[in-house]
Amino acid sequence: MSGHGTPIPMTSTLSGPLSGRAEVPGDKSISHRSLILGAMAVGETRISGLLEGEDVIDTAKAMRAFGAEVTDHGGGEWSVYGVGVGGFAEPDQVIDCGNSGTGVRLIMGAMATSPISATFTGDASLNKRPMARVTDPLALFGTRSVGRSGGRLPMTIVGAADPVPVRYVVPVPSAQVKSAVLLAGLNAPGKTVVIEKEATRDHTERMLRGFGAELTVEETEEGRVITLTGRPELKPQTIAVPRDPSSAAFPVCAALIVPGSDVLVPGIGLNPTRSGLFTTLREMGADLTYENEREEGGEPVADLRARYSPDMKGIEVPPERAASMIDEYPILSVVAANATGTTMMTGVKELRVKESDRIDAMAVGLRACGVEVDEGDDWWSVEGVGAGNVAGGATCASHLDHRIAMSFLVMGMAAQKPVSVDDGSPIATSFPVFEPLMASLGASLRRDNA
Ligand code: S3P
Repeated sequence: MSGHGTPIPMTSTLSGPLSGRAEVPGDKSISHRSLILGAMAVGETRISGLLEGEDVIDTAKAMRAFGAEVTDHGGGEWSVYGVGVGGFAEPDQVIDCGNSGTGVRLIMGAMATSPISATFTGDASLNKRPMARVTDPLALFGTRSVGRSGGRLPMTIVGAADPVPVRYVVPVPSAQVKSAVLLAGLNAPGKTVVIEKEATRDHTERMLRGFGAELTVEETEEGRVITLTGRPELKPQTIAVPRDPSSAAFPVCAALIVPGSDVLVPGIGLNPTRSGLFTTLREMGADLTYENEREEGGEPVADLRARYSPDMKGIEVPPERAASMIDEYPILSVVAANATGTTMMTGVKELRVKESDRIDAMAVGLRACGVEVDEGDDWWSVEGVGAGNVAGGATCASHLDHRIAMSFLVMGMAAQKPVSVDDGSPIATSFPVFEPLMASLGASLRRDNA
């Protein structure tokens, strides 16, 4: 679990050309869902390529606490012996989800319609984040919850003994909220309907179908209407987790801004609900190509090739693209700083309630490194200073947020003076091999207390 250990101050400096292959780890969203749905199936689900980051390990531990048998076979191979929909046992300890909003919100949904109680907690970052967005719809099933003020963790969820199906219009674009309601709907009789006005990542829908649930999706005037028939018997699956596009973003963006770079990032899922960053980078003029385009496990996949792109221009990122790149705005702002002109990002209010307030965290660090940033409640803009002109020379706070830490470290690889982060330890939540992988490409990166 991050945030409870010793902080790891880190520094990156202007790096030689980055080159080679960057094999990034498994997708975090799909890894959480593989473990949770595996635990709700009857029998043994086999998973390869699981992301072995702290967030996902905390979810594996939680599934054990709810009665599933979860086994690590080594090398990313895992198995989950599931207890079936409605088969969760009551945990005898507090469930600690560490830094993971996805973990806690999906697990709350998964247990919310069983006649058991569980108490959830997390690290200092997670315990600040809003949970009412999940407990409000769960209450419609008959679930009760008691947490701290403002709907914060630690929080106890009392599952509905006699759940009813619900119809819920998700008020914020959030795959976590959508997924929590769908997972709760699994153990409610009848049809649970979730409507999202803006499409968010659809891994839960795809995987529920893969596990044998009856689920339909209709595009209507009201939005995407997802209808799930409750009480299915989920059939165990063999899952190959694709590599994470959100992790791929870091070596890709580093290659675009570090002079002379040419990096191949193989096997990245280009599900349209996740690939907004790559579209945006190409619009900015990035030399980013998709090679060897193919389909794997029903998902579009390609090898991404990123080369140094000194002539990128700032653009307006359309608000309707926000959900498909919500985790990538911090690293986009670093690319924007190295472009010329203004990059305007609107419709991004959700960035304020991630592992940190990501607009604020990036704005403070970018300004300290000589880049002008303007911001409002649901927008921000970055004034590009042009390739190689970011001054750097500051220590930036990572606020227990892995993506903030990695973004500033990538910035230092192309800045005039070194860029430090006060704490790189949260990187282990999603991208445990970030340091050796970036170093193998030629990045200059060090731990300052080593
Ligand atoms: C995720 C959904 C997103 C994203 C998070 C992973 C998921 O959160 O930021 O990293 O796996 O469902 P929201 O649902 O809060 O947008």
